[in-house]
Amino acid sequence: MSDLTVSPLVDSSLNPILQPMHAMGHEHILFCNDKATGLKAIIAVHNTVLGPALGGTRMWMYQNEQEALTDVLRLSRGMTYKNAISQLNLGGGKAVIIGDAKSMKSEALFRRFGQFVNTLAGSYITAEDVGISPDDMVHVSKETKHVVGLPGKSGDPSPVTAFGVYMGMKAAAKHQFGSDSLVGKKVAVQGIGHVGAYLVDHLVAEGAIVTITDINEAALQALHAKHGVAVVAADKIYDVDMDIYAPCALGATVNDDTLARLNCSVIAGAANNQLKEESKHGRLLMEKGIIYAPDFAINAGGVINCFSEVEGLSLEWAKQKAEEIYTTIDRILMRSQQEGIPSYQVANQMAEERIQTKGSLNI
Ligand SMILES: NC(=O)c1ccc[n+]([C@@H]2O[C@H](COP(=O)([O-])OP(=O)(O)OC[C@H]3O[C@@H](n4cnc5c(N)ncnc54)[C@H](O)[C@@H]3O)[C@@H](O)[C@H]2O)c1
Repeated sequence: MSDLTVSPLVDSSLNPILQPMHAMGHEHILFCNDKATGLKAIIAVHNTVLGPALGGTRMWMYQNEQEALTDVLRLSRGMTYKNAISQLNLGGGKAVIIGDAKSMKSEALFRRFGQFVNTLAGSYITAEDVGISPDDMVHVSKETKHVVGLPGKSGDPSPVTAFGVYMGMKAAAKHQFGSDSLVGKKVAVQGIGHVGAYLVDHLVAEGAIVTITDINEAALQALHAKHGVAVVAADKIYDVDMDIYAPCALGATVNDDTLARLNCSVIAGAANNQLKEESKHGRLLMEKGIIYAPDFAINAGGVINCFSEVEGLSLEWAKQKAEEIYTTIDRILMRSQQEGIPSYQVANQMAEERIQTKGSLNI
């Protein structure tokens, strides 16, 4: 992703925190420390031109503070692009809590975190991410109203995410096969967790020929029993006969090794950061004639679901908005083809253009 707001030149007079912040265009970073509760957290607000910065809080046992800072800077910038490409009036932000999610959680820790979120006065809205449960967010919400994803509100975003991925996959199929029908198309789904399982429901309902894999044997057997879909071992998924590869588990699964094995002509899935090296593997996909639906555009159903909660909108609204992912992917792929540049790069440009237009309008 390129920089939105500043020259990419690194200003060596800046300190080790301001330097990456400056280079990546972040607006604000809040370091949170509380001895009594053991809280150590970093909240990064990347860009608020389009609206308040929305992005989840991750709890992770980082090796050190630098690793946590790098992660939060990268993730918050990613949210700016995701929210912008999805036509939401939201900016990008993210928070990380440094610590072991299994042993360090307490009501006090999350309430203290909520107090820090509250000091940002709504310029950052938090939600769940890796290592955080709805119950943790309930504690956060005792101290701030700038939190979404609470029990009884917009709920699990996975069905909306899966529906958006399904729509985006159809748009990608249209570009590759001349029709958006998935009837008879061979789709390999890697990861049948929250999103993957709902995606398989849509694919089977339309008449796709689905192969699934996961490291969770019980989940595989349950979905096989439900739909009769083929099952392969986790390390065999890249080698199956497929038209479409749908990564719904891990990041970086499009890499030197898998690109030599994958015989698909479309990649469309829910996982974040699918390309191991964005510029290298994004270009290689184009050269190989594989249509790639950029991850942050196709998996935006989750943030659309959160936005519906921010605005007090219904699940029906969220589903309709997620349906628009079809049009978003269609536009990205059309421009990629017309301009001869990789789809990930087009998606980044379209997100930046929206922010710059809004920024210059100053509305
Ligand atoms: N949940 C959402 O709304 C949402 C929104 C946007 C992006 N995403 C991304 O989509 C992906 C899936 O999200 P989720 O909520 O379904 O997560 P999840 O944890 O419910 O499911 C992931 C599944 O992948 C499986 N898995 C892990 N390693 C694997 C491997 N090596 N091979 C095969 N399977 C493996 C896990 O066993 C699990 O069943 C993640 O990358 C997530 O960041 C999710």
